Parts: sequence; structure tokens; C-alpha cells
Amino acid sequence: MSAPVPPTVSTTHRLGLDPIATPDRLLLGPGPSNAHPTVLQALARTPIGHLDPLYVELMGEVQELLRYTWQTDNRLTIPMSGTGSAAMEATLANTIEPGDKVLVAVKGYFGHRLVDMAGRYRAEVVTIERPWGEAFSLQEIEEALITHRPTILAIVHAETSTGVLQPMEGIGELCRLHDCLLLLDTVTSLGAVPLFLDDWKVDLAYSCSQKGLSCPPGLGPFTMGPRAEAKMMARQDKVPNWYLDVTLLNQYWGSDRVYHHTAPVNMNFGMREALRLLAEEGLENAWARHRRNAEALWSGLESLGLELHVPEELRLPTLTTVRIPEGVDGKAFSLHLLDRHGIEVGGGLGALAGKVWRIGLMGYNSTPENVERLLNLFATELPAFRPSAPVAAAVG
Ligand SMILES: Cc1ncc(COP(=O)(O)O)c(C=O)c1O
Repeated sequence: MSAPVPPTVSTTHRLGLDPIATPDRLLLGPGPSNAHPTVLQALARTPIGHLDPLYVELMGEVQELLRYTWQTDNRLTIPMSGTGSAAMEATLANTIEPGDKVLVAVKGYFGHRLVDMAGRYRAEVVTIERPWGEAFSLQEIEEALITHRPTILAIVHAETSTGVLQPMEGIGELCRLHDCLLLLDTVTSLGAVPLFLDDWKVDLAYSCSQKGLSCPPGLGPFTMGPRAEAKMMARQDKVPNWYLDVTLLNQYWGSDRVYHHTAPVNMNFGMREALRLLAEEGLENAWARHRRNAEALWSGLESLGLELHVPEELRLPTLTTVRIPEGVDGKAFSLHLLDRHGIEVGGGLGALAGKVWRIGLMGYNSTPENVERLLNLFATELPAFRPSAPVAAAVG
């Protein structure tokens, strides 16, 4: 037998690339939003070990500042390695046992994601639904709790697909009355919209790094209160997701510091800086800033004759859905904003695809200057995209 020929390195996939050079975009869509410059500096620091005493101290600081941001005393408050969906999945994976009834109040795209995920953990999923652009009344929630008797009620606080802010008053009390855990998606509300997790009796919540916290995407803040923790500890079987198992993760984030996975240390540098900046500004000031800038955007758009999709009392300060006027190619206009002005605004999702633009004013990007810049562009450049405009103007 002849000697085997050793393999040679193939160059098939070897690209000869220049160093990365991405443009500076202004991200005024549904997320990610721009990160604060000092958060970007924090991310660029030399990594330290994930068991280094200095890092362990930083972990405690991140946890404590997340508790402040959420207004909770929950012991189990952890930034999950992964995006908001990882933290979303963690809330479900740790608490659902096969056959548990999970009621999802669906009023947009992310409610459907909760339904999908809960089903994968073999929950018996039941839903109540509202049209995209509306919220649930307390009475609708109470009726569903009485009809379905769920173990968990899951609901999205700030629906990024519709721009609706779900009123929370009274929902937690109803859940306690009906012996049900309350799970809240705060991905587009944390750091930007009033949130009182403990006062609202929320048992489980999650969020993301890339919106109200002014960080890039990569971490998913997660928190679990004592009632949810008791359910997790009483499970018959292991949590059916190793990576997101809070009983294991807490051996690292709690006092024992036992290795679980290598923490994304630089992302947590960024998170610490983002939360530090938020604490320095003060939650009430950050919430007021978001509302002020959103209100300026709303009145500016309306004075240009544009229609907002959500009634004012339910409007979300971080995300505004603007109806695309009849005959306007919404996608062409958002591409124009991106190509000519480096500004991203989002299009509609699901039931609102092709019907709305989604404008985000989140975290670092919620400023009067950004509102003015965008309103100016809508005033001066949208007319060329209206059906009556001469073709040459639209092309121009
Ligand atoms: C309300 C809501 N929930 C969940 C998610 C999922 O988060 P991620 O995309 O960071 O995984 C998003 C993303 O935008 C969201 O807006």
C-alpha cells in the first residue's frame, strides 16, 4: 500500500479582505440602537479573566445596577450571555414543566415568539389576542385567568412590532389572586420607560442590551423573583436547557463562582458602563427624556400630516409606528434614508409589514437633535416619494 498523501490547505474559502470599515449609521429603527461612545470604549478594553477577583467584583456591580434599573430586589438577576431571545428562553426553560399551562397574551410579533418557545418546552399553551396596535384591558386578562387557570401568564410590556405599551397596573395582583406567575418581556422598555418590577408583582422578566441600555447586542438581562424560584427549585426534572439553567448559572453568578461557561467579559464591561451612565442620569430623568423626545417626534410627524398607528394613551416612547401614506413605497423611502443619510428606520413586521415605518428613539439615541434631523428629512424628502411627485424627483 502506498503512503497516504497528507492533506494540503485549500484556499477555496480564503478571502483576501481589507480591515473592517463599517459606516457610522444613526440607528433610529427597532434596534439595535447606537451604543454610547464610552460604552464602546469599555468594550475595547483588554479582557481580564472571567474568574479574576476584579471581574467578580464587576459582576456584582452589574447585577446590582440591573436591580436598580428594573426596580427589583430579586436575588437571581443575571445578564445572560446571548441576546434578548436567550433571556426570553431562560424565563420559560427554567420554570415550565411539561404539561404546565402557559397563557400568552399576544398583541404582536413577540407574543408569538413566546408561544413558540413555551410550546418547545412542552407547555400547554393557550392564548388571548388583541389586534396589532392595541393593548389588553385588565378585565380581558382577568377573564382569561379565570377561564384558563394557567401556571404562567406571559405578556410583552413594550411591543416593538406595534409600538404599544401595555398598561401594567393590577395585572400582578390578579396573577397572585389566581395563583399564576407573571412573566414580562421588557426588551424595549428597560432603561427607557417606567418599570417597577417588584411593585407590579412581576415574577420573571428579561430584556436586551441593545436598546434602552445603549450597549451593542449580546447580553440578555434576566431576573427571577422568589415565587418563580420556588417553582424552579420544585421541578421534577433538570431544567431542559443546559446553557440557560439558572440553577447552574447561579453557582457562577452567586457566591460560589463555579465555572459554567466563559463569560463574555468585554460585553459585561460595556454593560457595566451603560448601567453606570444610566444610574448617573437617574432612572426618572432617563424615562422623562424618552417621553419628551417621543412626544416631540409624535407632534412633528402629525404636523407633517402623517398618521400614527397607536392611540396616544398606549404609545410607546421608544418605538413609534407611523402609517406609510397611501401610494408611498415605504421601503424605497427607508432605503433612501439609509443610503443618502446613513439613517436606519425600520419597516413593519408581521401584520404591519408594508403598512408602517418603525422609528426608534432608544437610550443614547433619544435626543432632540435626532428628532429634529429625522423630522427635517420627512418634511423635505418624503414628498418626492408621494404618488403625485414627478418621477424625476423621486429618483433624484
Ligand atoms: C419585544 C421584544 N422581545 C424580544 C426580542 C428579542 O430580542 P433579541 O432580538 O435581542 O434576541 C425583541 C427584539 O427586538 C423584542 O423587541
